[in-house]
Amino acid sequence: MADLLLHSLAEFTPFILSLLDAAEARNTVEIGVEYGLISPTLIERARREGGVHTGIDPAPQPGADALFEGGHARLAAAPSLEALPGLPPSDAYLVDGDHNYYTVLSELRLIRDAAAAAGRGFPLVILHDIGWPCARRDLYYAPQRIPPEFRMPHSFSLGMRPGKPLAGKGGFRGEGVFACALNEGGPRNGVLTALEDFLEETPGLHLSCIAAVFGLGVLATEEMAERLEPLISPLRDNPLLAKMERNRLDLYIRVLDWQDGILAR
Ligand SMILES: C[S@@+](CC[C@H](N)C(=O)[O-])C[C@H]1O[C@@H](n2cnc3c(N)ncnc32)[C@H](O)[C@@H]1O
Repeated sequence: MADLLLHSLAEFTPFILSLLDAAEARNTVEIGVEYGLISPTLIERARREGGVHTGIDPAPQPGADALFEGGHARLAAAPSLEALPGLPPSDAYLVDGDHNYYTVLSELRLIRDAAAAAGRGFPLVILHDIGWPCARRDLYYAPQRIPPEFRMPHSFSLGMRPGKPLAGKGGFRGEGVFACALNEGGPRNGVLTALEDFLEETPGLHLSCIAAVFGLGVLATEEMAERLEPLISPLRDNPLLAKMERNRLDLYIRVLDWQDGILAR
């Protein structure tokens, strides 16, 4: 998938840098490093700002750990819910680890509570995968890490299709890397649902949604959101972006169907 389909937070690099600059973020945290596609840029930025960029990932891809060598970078090779409590509060967070309700809600609570305990305001939080397929459906890298009461029935082999709530044969799938919930929708299912529930319990925050490359959310205090408004407003809830995103997903799934058909011959 990596070569064929735009999928990384790195696609948003100039935009993310402009947000971090506007927020005057010195220290940054990146949950979900994988290949570290955006990490060197953020580490270099931390070096310039005299801060530290911390990556968190229990299973970074080979070579990604080497990116975090040097004085302005740290890597915590652990799940976010184990790593975050041991870190000082940061100015900004990129949340792109395990894409499910329990993990994202818990990450946001830890981020909020660490800031509050240090007497700081809520930081800038940029979340990936708030659009399809994770918006209303849990994905699990490690289902055993999710408490049973939050863990949806799931499959590592079935796939997802936009507009079809039930997982089935073929479609968009994790190829053994991650599992998807069998059903889309309902309470306590998906990243956007987690974000909405977090907003319900945390007044004074503002969320902007950008419908590109699986969906990007920008969560900030109302005061910070006002400062970021000129950067975000052209992209927020943009119907052209939403249409292009849906189009590329439909086309990509058509490619997968062709591939599956060829392999089945
Ligand atoms: C979608 S990839 C991240 C992609 C990367 N942020 C980018 O945009 O190029 C998700 C990563 O999250 C990691 N991950 C899975 N569960 C996690 C957890 N509980 N905490 C932190 N990272 C996790 C996976 O190992 C994987 O490398």
